[in-house]
Amino acid sequence: MCLTHLYIILTYRLYLYAKAKGESKVTDTQRAAVFIDKGGTGKTTSAAHLGVALTRVGSSVLLIDLAGKQGDLADALGVFDDVQQDISNEDDFPNIATTMGDRWSDVAKMVGTEEAVERLVYETDSGVDLIPAHPDLDGLDADLGNIDDVQDRYNRLRVFLDDHVEPLDRWDMIILDMPGLANNITYNGLWAAQDVVTPVSMGSFDSSKRDL
Ligand SMILES: Nc1ncnc2c1ncn2[C@@H]1O[C@H](COP(=O)(O)OP(=O)(O)O)[C@@H](O)[C@H]1O
Ligand SMILES: [Mg+2]
Repeated sequence: MCLTHLYIILTYRLYLYAKAKGESKVTDTQRAAVFIDKGGTGKTTSAAHLGVALTRVGSSVLLIDLAGKQGDLADALGVFDDVQQDISNEDDFPNIATTMGDRWSDVAKMVGTEEAVERLVYETDSGVDLIPAHPDLDGLDADLGNIDDVQDRYNRLRVFLDDHVEPLDRWDMIILDMPGLANNITYNGLWAAQDVVTPVSMGSFDSSKRDL
């Protein structure tokens, strides 16, 4: 058997191993992305209400705001001023953009995964935890666009959640509030989530079909 054959067999075995590992992965934390590629449709409102409702029935919930720098979810959950203050004091590293950037694994190695994640999270009076949006999401979208490898470009948030958040066993549910457009951040959110929640306003036709 020549070296090339061995290499092909080895690569194929690694592929099968990775595939089997991916399929057998047991995920305790549920994830959902609140998404439709349109603004002003109630995504943030739905994410906040869904999150708070789930805490009221006993779930621990993490909301992640991928929707842009205006910080609507922080506003809805009463921590807007705290988040803005941290940003203006430059006490805003790491942040949500860091988790999808090249430096995340260095940060996690340096301070430990639990502490690195802890630094991202704001606790809120409504009981849900929040990783708020950050102005660096804008630059991150462009940076991700420069990554040629599609897997690498869109898999960053999923790797962060799988490898750094999931092992903490801290939340039952992770809800992603998404941008109202399809950009590189959006695709990271969709790849990371298992389910998508889409707020829609039903018209008369839809209403008549709702019991089908
Ligand atoms: N179910 C609803 N009924 C009426 N108004 C709503 C509802 N959900 C959201 N809104 C209002 O619609 C506007 C846009 O909601 P928002 O959640 O910010 O949308 P998106 O996140 O999709 O941009 C806000 O002013 C919000 O208060
Ligand atoms: Mg929104």
